[in-house]
Amino acid sequence: IGVDISRAMLDVAVEREVEGDLLLADMGDGIPFRPGTFDGCISISAVQWLCNADKKSHSPPKRLYRFFSTLYTALARGSRAVLQLYPENSEQLELITAQAMRAGFTGGMVVDYPNSAKAKKNAKGKSVKKSRDWILEKKERRRRQGKEVRADTKYTGRKRRPQF
Ligand SMILES: C[S@@+](CC[C@H](N)C(=O)[O-])C[C@H]1O[C@@H](n2cnc3c(N)ncnc32)[C@H](O)[C@@H]1O
Repeated sequence: IGVDISRAMLDVAVEREVEGDLLLADMGDGIPFRPGTFDGCISISAVQWLCNADKKSHSPPKRLYRFFSTLYTALARGSRAVLQLYPENSEQLELITAQAMRAGFTGGMVVDYPNSAKAKKNAKGKSVKKSRDWILEKKERRRRQGKEVRADTKYTGRKRRPQF
């Protein structure tokens, strides 16, 4: 069962003769299905829209909570939801994960392309993997563990030219 707020998007699905049923609905109003209806849920590039208030009456935290709590109920025990999304900033990501956890979801987040400028901005305090800071922190950690680690120099963590 596919859900979208846009009739035009659902029309594309009809044109492509996708399997299953389609539902024209606003996920911010909740997922209107009986408890335990689904074995899983996949969402591609949609949940971030719930962070926007398109109408005066829209409260993003409330809409996100309604979405996650009703989705949680509609999922069978032990099933999973995989939600791919594009948050605009770390606040959006925090709001989304906070509301998902409030609704009962557990699990984790995977950041694709962690070296992209956007992801770096979202990393907030944590050094980006393989960056100079990350390497320095790792070396320090290993020193504290009593391991033999080479001294830090101006070359530590430098970019190397691609090798052919
Ligand atoms: C980038 S498109 C992705 C569409 C589809 N998931 C795909 O992968 O082809 C984002 C979709 O989210 C839908 N959308 C945005 N806000 C929504 C809402 N509140 N409820 C349901 N769908 C929403 C849009 O209509 C749009 O079709």
